[in-house]
Amino acid sequence: MRTVAWELCIALAAVVGVGAGYLVSEGSTTAGYPSNLAKDLAELKPGPETDLILYGKRLVVNTPRLIGKAAQNPAMAYGGNNLSCQSCHLNGGLKPFAAPFVSTAATFPMLVDNKVVTLPDRINSCMRLGLNGKPLPEDSREMTALIAYLKFVGKDSPPGVRLPGSGLMPIALPGDVPSARRGETVYT
Ligand code: HEC
Repeated sequence: MRTVAWELCIALAAVVGVGAGYLVSEGSTTAGYPSNLAKDLAELKPGPETDLILYGKRLVVNTPRLIGKAAQNPAMAYGGNNLSCQSCHLNGGLKPFAAPFVSTAATFPMLVDNKVVTLPDRINSCMRLGLNGKPLPEDSREMTALIAYLKFVGKDSPPGVRLPGSGLMPIALPGDVPSARRGETVYT
């Protein structure tokens, strides 16, 4: 991986506060990225497994109302802000280069700094850092549903493979000398 990509990786990891699973794609191609997932989801046959997958999808899309600040039952208010998972994982986690979930189930558990990071661990780091909240219990219906959704949208990814379009688009650094003053202006 080029240095630029690593720098971006580190900067972004700092923003979310976690390095686990934080991969920036090497290329910008999406050849081989599954394009039928929305249709496949719409065509799922009724049944308990489909209910679980679709609940997982709703959790990604309507996070604040279901498990966030806006949850009717205060015991379900795991998230601490009004973001949805799809505020960052765009289009229900299906959009290429917007941290999609298409290769997630295929590549977890993952070894990060000699530690095994499981899928529930990774989801819970987003619960804590992305949603500024607290972890979902690993045996909850919500965690089970999120994993069922990730597995379904990951059905086209062979084990261990990150499909093109996974992660985030590498952004070339500008040639300018870094400047805190310019950074402040941009930030403001
Ligand atoms: C504030 C932004 C933000 C929010 C909100 C957020 N995430 Fe993330 N999440 C990220 C970023 C950034 C990554 C790292 C992307 C990468 O490396 O592909 C990530 C990575 C992940 C991964 C690992 C993906 C992979 O294939 O490596 C999972 C799983 C995940 N998030 C689940 C969730 C779930 C579920 C929610 C909602 C409960 C959520 N995230 C909310 C920013 C967020």
